[in-house]
Amino acid sequence: MAPLLFFAVFLFGTALDGAVGQEDGFLSIDCGMDPNYGSYKNPDDGIVYEPDGQYVDGGENHMVAPEHQSGTFRPYSTVRSFPSGVRNCYALPTVAGAKYLVRVRSAYGNYDGKNSSSTIQFDLYLGVNYWATVKDPWNEFHEALFVAWASWVPVCLLNTGRGTPFASSVVLRRLSSELYPVINAKQSMRMISRKNVGSDISTLSYPYDRYDRHWWGQIAPDPTCKNLSTASTIKNNSMFSVPSPVMQTAVEAANKSSLRIKWENSAPIEYKVFMHFADFQNSQLRQFNVSFNELGSYQVSPPYLDNGVLSNSQWYKAPGGVYTITLEPTAESKLPPMLNAYEIYALISHDDPMTFPRDCKYSLYIYFRISV
Ligand SMILES: *[C@@H]1O[C@H](CO)[C@@H](O)[C@H](O)[C@H]1NC(C)=O
Ligand SMILES: *[C@@H]1O[C@H](CO)[C@@H](O)[C@H](O)[C@H]1NC(C)=O
Ligand SMILES: *[C@@H]1O[C@H](CO)[C@@H](O)[C@H](O)[C@H]1NC(C)=O
Ligand SMILES: *[C@@H]1O[C@H](CO)[C@@H](O)[C@H](O)[C@H]1NC(C)=O
Ligand SMILES: *[C@@H]1O[C@H](CO)[C@@H](O)[C@H](O)[C@H]1NC(C)=O
Repeated sequence: MAPLLFFAVFLFGTALDGAVGQEDGFLSIDCGMDPNYGSYKNPDDGIVYEPDGQYVDGGENHMVAPEHQSGTFRPYSTVRSFPSGVRNCYALPTVAGAKYLVRVRSAYGNYDGKNSSSTIQFDLYLGVNYWATVKDPWNEFHEALFVAWASWVPVCLLNTGRGTPFASSVVLRRLSSELYPVINAKQSMRMISRKNVGSDISTLSYPYDRYDRHWWGQIAPDPTCKNLSTASTIKNNSMFSVPSPVMQTAVEAANKSSLRIKWENSAPIEYKVFMHFADFQNSQLRQFNVSFNELGSYQVSPPYLDNGVLSNSQWYKAPGGVYTITLEPTAESKLPPMLNAYEIYALISHDDPMTFPRDCKYSLYIYFRISV
């Protein structure tokens, strides 16, 4: 059975190095900042930002309009814009073979006085690979996970003829090598969604998340489901390291109904979804089938105070562009389905036609710890 391979990674993988300082492997760049001010600690999250001069050539520094200066995330108060050249890149120092999270934020703040955010559009590239399109960049947030292929990685803004590209901040976070086994030298991924289900905290990130991933709160919207929470710590799964505060809230279907995650996108995008489960009780059976379009169905019983993960094993594009994940109770289950967190990523294909064999059968894939 293929899943055993992943269980093995689990059992023999080493724990994260606890001795490493918390911000080890963090590089946080405030684009367009006056270099004379030097580094500063951002009051919101205690992360130290530095000016961007040594990481980029070209471009212009701008302050956002005064009415957008105060009360915002401090790196948003300046931008670097690139009115000339088609491709302008930040060169970020990396260690070849190490895993990283990279994030580009673009917050317009009327820096050019033209009030034209809605007409600006440009592309982001990770090296030579298309990453994302920035559209109406009032407050854009783009994140990708990759394995570094050299001692520096270019993160590029491409002018596509629809306005001047600009960035407010660029950050790099080194990840534990165990995290997200799906990424490697040949495939990177961009974050589409990362939800802290059952929580009303708008976003939870560093220092709760050691890697500064952002988890957006998603509450039970209506009485067909309900918010659950626990005060007990949830054990961390070394392949995903979802922060315990994220796992400590969940949404449960009301009565014995189903939970559903649904989205539509007809673009040729291949997705991977990670669903994180932890039960807060172990006195009654909670068992449900998780199905994702035609990928098949897996029976899940969330581990008690432990992080179980379910994912589709292959990158998946729905033929009709409609994606539906359904969590449906089994006949034996005493409790309805629940979900603590989920992440949706899209494949960033590297320009290598040999990389992605299409002949494997797609299926759901389970990363649970061994349990009976
Ligand atoms: C920008 O647009 C907003 C409305 O969208 C308007 O209230 C504001 O006055 C405009 N600012 C400038 C500088 O034109
Ligand atoms: C879930 O919690 C949020 C805030 O904590 C609340 O606004 C929402 O109504 C709750 N949902 C349900 C179905 O009770
Ligand atoms: C759940 O069951 C209770 C009691 O049987 C009922 O009052 C309630 O309307 C049901 N809720 C939903 C969303 O079906
Ligand atoms: C997961 O466990 C490791 C090792 O015990 C620890 O260093 C790390 O901070 C934990 N991660 C989270 C998100 O709690
Ligand atoms: C759940 O899946 C099992 C096998 O995986 C199947 O036998 C069962 O009928 C399914 N139950 C529901 C309610 O779909």
